[in-house]
Amino acid sequence: MKFFGSNKINTGVFISGTGSNLKNLIKFSLKKNSPIKIIFVCSNNKDAKGLQYAKKYSIKKKIFEFKNHRSDENKILNYLKKNKIELLCLAGFMKILSKKFIKSYQGKIINIHPSLLPKYKGLNTHYKAIINNDKFSGCTVHYVNSKLDSGKIILQKKVKILKKDTTSSLAKKILKIEHLIYPKAINKILTNL
Ligand code: GRF
Repeated sequence: MKFFGSNKINTGVFISGTGSNLKNLIKFSLKKNSPIKIIFVCSNNKDAKGLQYAKKYSIKKKIFEFKNHRSDENKILNYLKKNKIELLCLAGFMKILSKKFIKSYQGKIINIHPSLLPKYKGLNTHYKAIINNDKFSGCTVHYVNSKLDSGKIILQKKVKILKKDTTSSLAKKILKIEHLIYPKAINKILTNL
C-alpha cells in the first residue's frame, strides 16, 4: 500500500480505553504531509474515554461490544468496505480479531504494543519487564496477523528501565515513545519517509 500525493488513505482506529494514541494519530493525520485521514473510530467499549476525541474532531464513531463476535465483525467489515477504509490502526484495542477478519484486511492492519516484541506478547508487559530485571523495554508497531502480537515488526523503540521505575512510571515513559513511533511507522509503510 502506497500513498501518492494528496490522496490520503482512509483510516480507521480501533480503541478500547483512554485513547491517547488515537488522539496522537488524529493530530498526526491533520498535518499537511500526513498520508492518512482518520474517518472512523471503532470501540468495543461504550465508556472508552478515547471516544471523546472522535467527538471533538467530528470523526464517525461506532461501538461494537463483540457480544456476538462474528456478527459484529461482519458489520464492521461491511462498514469499512462501504466507506473505502484501507488502513486499520489498533490502539489499545482489547479484542482479538478473527482470522477471517484479518485475512480480509491482510497487510492493512497495524498495532502498537508496549514491549520490545517478540518479548512479552499479551498483557502486563511492564510488570514482566520489571520482574525479569530487564535493562530495557519499549514499544513496537507491527502488522497484525492471526497470532497474537506476532506479525512483522515495522518499528521499535527502546527505553532504559531505571532501578526506581515502577510498572506505572515505565508505562508512562513507554506511552510517550508510543506517540513518537506510531506516526513514524505509518509514514514508513505508506511513504518513503
Ligand atoms: C498502549 O500502551 C498500547 O501500547 C496498548 O494499550 C495502551 C493504549 O493506550 N496496546 P491509549 O488508550 O492509546 O492511551
